Amino acid sequence: MLNIVIFGPPGSGKGTQSENLIKEYNLAHISTGDLLRKEINTNTELGALAKSYIDKGELVPDEVIINMIDSYLDRMGRVNGVIFDGFPRTVAQAGALRDLLKTYKTKINVCLNLEVPNDELMKRLIERGKTSGRSDDNEETIAKRLATYEKQTKPVLDFYKKEGVAANIKGIGEISAIFDDIKAAVDAKK
Ligand code: C5P
Ligand code: MG
Repeated sequence: MLNIVIFGPPGSGKGTQSENLIKEYNLAHISTGDLLRKEINTNTELGALAKSYIDKGELVPDEVIINMIDSYLDRMGRVNGVIFDGFPRTVAQAGALRDLLKTYKTKINVCLNLEVPNDELMKRLIERGKTSGRSDDNEETIAKRLATYEKQTKPVLDFYKKEGVAANIKGIGEISAIFDDIKAAVDAKK
């Protein structure tokens, strides 16, 4: 299997580049943010819980997210590999993912770290907010999400550096040029 973590702050292009990766490598895609928004839109209990965190720019508790990933993998069936988008968001989640993948006798091959400066992220997300309909794409919540990323999510990168699978990708410029760098990094690790 080819398992990829697409990593980076909100607005760094994880969703966009996931779409390119799916086509290029024929992979399954798990976006935990999309899964949570689906729960919100269908008014489930999990959705209500998730919304209370998302609207504050905070993280949904590890246990909830890990359970969601566990059941997703369980139902997934046979695939070439998986792109994890927006997960893991904490070091605890990264450890849990490693343990889960072990039970499938597989592992993360590469963690792609999309690097984009904060002022550019803020610009992109405010622009996206005009059409995304996302309750968290407003200046105040974006600032909180960026702070949450720095504090709780960035340490995940050290986890993958220690595993020898982290690759830094410059996340500004043409989408297709960024994807060329991504392909080179994936092909070097797969
Ligand atoms: O990944 P995305 O930016 O779509 O996630 C939107 C929000 O969902 C995050 O800001 C966070 O509140 C929540 N989330 C989470 N844990 C994850 C993924 C998303 O708490 N693993
Ligand atoms: Mg996304």
